[in-house]
Amino acid sequence: MNNILPKFIYGTAWKDPETKKLTLDALQKGFRAIDTANQRKYYNESDVGTGLKEFLNSSLIKRDELFIQTKFTYAHGQNDIKPYSEHDSLSRQVIDSFTSSLQHLNIEYIDSYLLHAPFSAGKITDEDLEVWSSMESLVRKGHIKYLGISNINSRQLSELCKKVIIQPKFVQNFSLTYTAWDEDTRILCKAKDILYQGYGLLKAKIHGKPPLLFSDLAEKYGKTIPQLIYCFCQQLGMICLTGTSNPIHMEQTLSVEDFKIDEVDMLKLTAICR
Ligand SMILES: NC(=O)c1ccc[n+]([C@@H]2O[C@H](COP(=O)([O-])OP(=O)(O)OC[C@H]3O[C@@H](n4cnc5c(N)ncnc54)[C@H](OP(=O)(O)O)[C@@H]3O)[C@@H](O)[C@H]2O)c1
Repeated sequence: MNNILPKFIYGTAWKDPETKKLTLDALQKGFRAIDTANQRKYYNESDVGTGLKEFLNSSLIKRDELFIQTKFTYAHGQNDIKPYSEHDSLSRQVIDSFTSSLQHLNIEYIDSYLLHAPFSAGKITDEDLEVWSSMESLVRKGHIKYLGISNINSRQLSELCKKVIIQPKFVQNFSLTYTAWDEDTRILCKAKDILYQGYGLLKAKIHGKPPLLFSDLAEKYGKTIPQLIYCFCQQLGMICLTGTSNPIHMEQTLSVEDFKIDEVDMLKLTAICR
């Protein structure tokens, strides 16, 4: 395994026109893992690459001390600017998307390459298997360290694992409070030695409102509610994504390392979302 196992990943969605600056800010503040996608609709991967290059040129940190993750996105998840021709086979689309990701990011390998979402919500399709097989070929050539998949439910994940050769190392999901923070998928990930990345964590709500327990416990530990939620999610075993644009929030997020939620409070927090 990569010797850098990030506790936080800095997410670069919805950052335009500040993608380059915020990527650089996040790295300078101490984030060592970056998430992006070759999906121009929501991400600007080449500006992530410019921020990354500026950081590597101006610091003592080396490329292999960073964890860089990007994604292959199907045409139906893209806008008009696609990193491949929609008329090509899916295997070709993966190779073209991946090649342009390396160019955008100015790097020679990707730590983690995700299929952005299964082709359809119901099951794993032939399209997914063709894409995965093409992603596997890139791992075999040494261009990618680990594969992963995003926006997948536990049934699909179980099916995927049975049908592919190289197993996913990461799952990246929207971790909703009312699904007990995606408990089914997290349990399956643990059983299969897959690392779970959670996004949307601060959208934690029950009946449309943040649970009162959050504010009570945030006060008890002398932390902000986001810090409490991130700490809780890490103690559940998640790698947390954050895409904050605020330098103070970046610092507050990284400083979560300095406290621990006790067992009783972990049980209380776990109980509110069951
Ligand atoms: N795979 C997928 O389909 C998918 C989908 C969505 C997201 N993602 C990934 O996940 C990343 C994170 O996205 P997200 O949906 O979790 O939301 P987010 O970008 O982390 O931000 C959610 C909101 O929380 C606020 N916030 C963040 N940290 C805070 C803090 N410490 N204190 C107070 N407020 C804070 C932000 O405001 P401020 O900017 O003011 O802090 C923002 O308004 C994305 O950039 C992307 O990389 C992936």
